[in-house]
Amino acid sequence: MSATAKKRAPMPEDIRTRKGGAPLVSLTAYTTPMAQMMDPHCDFVLVGDSVGMVLHGLPSTLGVTMEMMIMHGQAVARGLNSAMMVIDMPFGSYEESREQAFRNAARLMSETGAGAVKLEGGVEMAETIRFLVARGIPVMAHVGLTPQSINTLGGYKVQGRGDAGEALMNDAQAVAQAGAFAVVLEKVPATLADRVTAEVPIPTIGIGASAGCDGQILVLDDMLGLFTAFKAKFVKRFANLGEQAEVAIADYAREVTERSFPASEHVFGDETPGASS
Ligand code: KIV
Repeated sequence: MSATAKKRAPMPEDIRTRKGGAPLVSLTAYTTPMAQMMDPHCDFVLVGDSVGMVLHGLPSTLGVTMEMMIMHGQAVARGLNSAMMVIDMPFGSYEESREQAFRNAARLMSETGAGAVKLEGGVEMAETIRFLVARGIPVMAHVGLTPQSINTLGGYKVQGRGDAGEALMNDAQAVAQAGAFAVVLEKVPATLADRVTAEVPIPTIGIGASAGCDGQILVLDDMLGLFTAFKAKFVKRFANLGEQAEVAIADYAREVTERSFPASEHVFGDETPGASS
């Protein structure tokens, strides 16, 4: 391979075989520039339906549509070179029947170039996952706190505490047996996440789970400090870009008001042809 050859993006099977190996790194992305920035650092990038809350100001992920996912999926795909792209199936696009799930998953993959879809649910979605995988659609599952079900879960609560741990373990086993190549564990006790990771044969991707998971994912705008409406306990802000942006916008507004911006270096003279840049 030449030094300039492009690195091949991992396939779902490559992700599956990382079980128990070096931790998988992933983040959500919704735009081309952010996808470009994370591409060299991530094994896979998720076009999450969190886009509805993070970029569109929706109160939950329930209002996210297929069209929104496709538009953001296409934008992210333009920024990726070496990371695999996984795309979320939005609420209402897969729960009704296996056929509905196939139709919408195939559309998401063919119109965006995603290598896999992610859907929420455990035992109750196992049959759908088996149907999709048998027809060429790689599936990443998502159990624990499943934000599309907040109305039946009663809010964004920790899942799987106490006796509920067995049901969560059954969910993770069921999606693995159905053929999912990885499973996201969201907002579950660390000891349970470790047990699921030890017992389930596919990689676990933690978010609010445990450092012992086979990989981690965070919502990009959370970890950059760009989304500040609220901060979950499991979010670590690796930067405070939201605060920096507010200061920059206030500085701009002040300089415009004072007429100190634009300054001489930002405006054009009319004398020298070719000096227009
Ligand atoms: O939509 C999303 O961003 C997600 C992650 C939180 C895993 O599903």
